[in-house]
Amino acid sequence: MKKMRLIIALPVFCFAATAFAQVKPEKVIHYRQSVMTLIGWNFSTLGAMVKGKIAFDAKQFSKHTGRLAFLAPQVLEGFTKGSDKGAETDAKPEIWTDFDDFQAKLNDLVNETKALDEIAKSDDEAKMKDQFKKTADACKACHDKYKAD
Ligand code: HEC
Repeated sequence: MKKMRLIIALPVFCFAATAFAQVKPEKVIHYRQSVMTLIGWNFSTLGAMVKGKIAFDAKQFSKHTGRLAFLAPQVLEGFTKGSDKGAETDAKPEIWTDFDDFQAKLNDLVNETKALDEIAKSDDEAKMKDQFKKTADACKACHDKYKAD
């Protein structure tokens, strides 16, 4: 009986594993664009505060930095091999030919957003603004090289 169950369970497992490995490129592209949209959304609120377009509010600031620190480590999954095409995308092909450098730039984003979220708890507005700029530099460093306009 036990053996029977194993025989039945195995093909189901294999199917699940294959399905996971073959996520359609268009889904991967949609995923990464969605994460970037969320990052952009939260980042622009911080930018508005830093530039004085809206009132600086430490609690709101910290809410958005927390989201950024949570989102940044999720970006990598959106750049699987073979997802260079399959839907409309601004991702340049150099990402996959220069993947170590791309990943290093992504790592910078993870570190800068983490640092930003930690500083956001400090109540030091000048430091928060300074770290916001460093984070913006991390966005720019990658976009300049790997994102089409
Ligand atoms: C390691 C590289 C990298 C970093 C760092 C990075 N991005 Fe991106 N971003 C990309 C790429 C590549 C695309 C294009 C994705 C596509 O079209 O498939 C993109 C797209 C976007 C988009 C457009 C999303 C859409 O499709 O509408 C926004 C907004 C965005 N990024 C904001 C940001 C912000 C804000 C930061 C910094 C806090 C940031 N990005 C950091 C690589 C990066």
